[in-house]
Amino acid sequence: MAISYKELGLVNTKMMFKKAMEGGFAIPAYNFNNMEQLQAIIQACVESDSPVILQVSKGARQYANQTLLRYMAMGAVEMMREMGGNIPIALHLDHGDSFELAKDCIESGFSSVMIDASHHPYDENIRVSKQVADYAHNLPDYVSVEAELGVLAGIEDDVEAAKSIYTQPEQVEDFTKRTNVDSLAISIGTSHGAYKFKVKPGEAPPPLRFDILEEIQKRLPGFPIVLHGASSIPQEYVDLVNRYGGDMENAVGVSAAQLRRAAASAVCKINIDSDGRLVVTGVIRKIFAEKPGEFDPRKYLGPARDALRDLLIQKNKNVLGSAGHGAEIMDAIKAEEA
Ligand code: G3H
Ligand code: 13P
Ligand code: ZN
Repeated sequence: MAISYKELGLVNTKMMFKKAMEGGFAIPAYNFNNMEQLQAIIQACVESDSPVILQVSKGARQYANQTLLRYMAMGAVEMMREMGGNIPIALHLDHGDSFELAKDCIESGFSSVMIDASHHPYDENIRVSKQVADYAHNLPDYVSVEAELGVLAGIEDDVEAAKSIYTQPEQVEDFTKRTNVDSLAISIGTSHGAYKFKVKPGEAPPPLRFDILEEIQKRLPGFPIVLHGASSIPQEYVDLVNRYGGDMENAVGVSAAQLRRAAASAVCKINIDSDGRLVVTGVIRKIFAEKPGEFDPRKYLGPARDALRDLLIQKNKNVLGSAGHGAEIMDAIKAEEA
């Protein structure tokens, strides 16, 4: 039976992006696959009063079970309220690869979907993105739609892109007009995963292509832009993984300074998954190495969850700038609905 996201206490991303654009900050979009990640995200965002987009990939949906996910999202909203929070929470499909998947997610309570047809020829990308937007926008409760132009290097779910293809600014007006999507993911030099740049030890990664972003902003004034592949891959956690038997040599991400600059621009949504994976892995490795007799999952998943929560609080406060805007956005949503 189809259910609307409003019944789960979730919101779409319209007001979040409006406020992020006006305020020069970005909404965090954190991926989750399990209970501990979800707990960490909610705790961090309540504690820092930040709006949040909970992201679920196709793989995460298969891993966690789609029915369970719906109730986890509903539980997250209730937990947030019980904690005394008043933050807007969106549930978003990350890298949806078909109209059918997007529709299925919307029917099970997602408030936002990404249709990623960026690896298809331009006209096919437009056709599929428009099909999703037409469907999502004509429901009684408006569902937000994100599409992508340009291809990120690395792996996008099942699609492997060997090299990034930067977004062509000349295409963005035509694309957004013809598809009617609500936000646009662009390719300006980031990539998915923990190995974003090939640099020698001690060398700084190349800067993102802010010139392309500026050109896009000029052509689409006030239009929400999304940055994928935005993990920073903190070196202290790479070191932790490597110190305790892992092998993540040469892992490198996007610097906090580059992300701060992006967040202050038309970039309204910043996607982070790998940082969460890294922190959880580092903490668990350390515990396994130091306490080989430990076999209660709460004793290693719990500390991993707490470290993830602390990292996300720092991100909201010091990188994305979303901290302190949760209740403000939630109140604006309620006022608009009243
Ligand atoms: O962009 C991809 C996200 O990091 C999700 O990754 O497909 O392995 O869940 P996943
Ligand atoms: P990272 O791999 O940099 O965390 O990117 C995540 C992402 O873009 C999810 O869509
Ligand atoms: Zn992505």
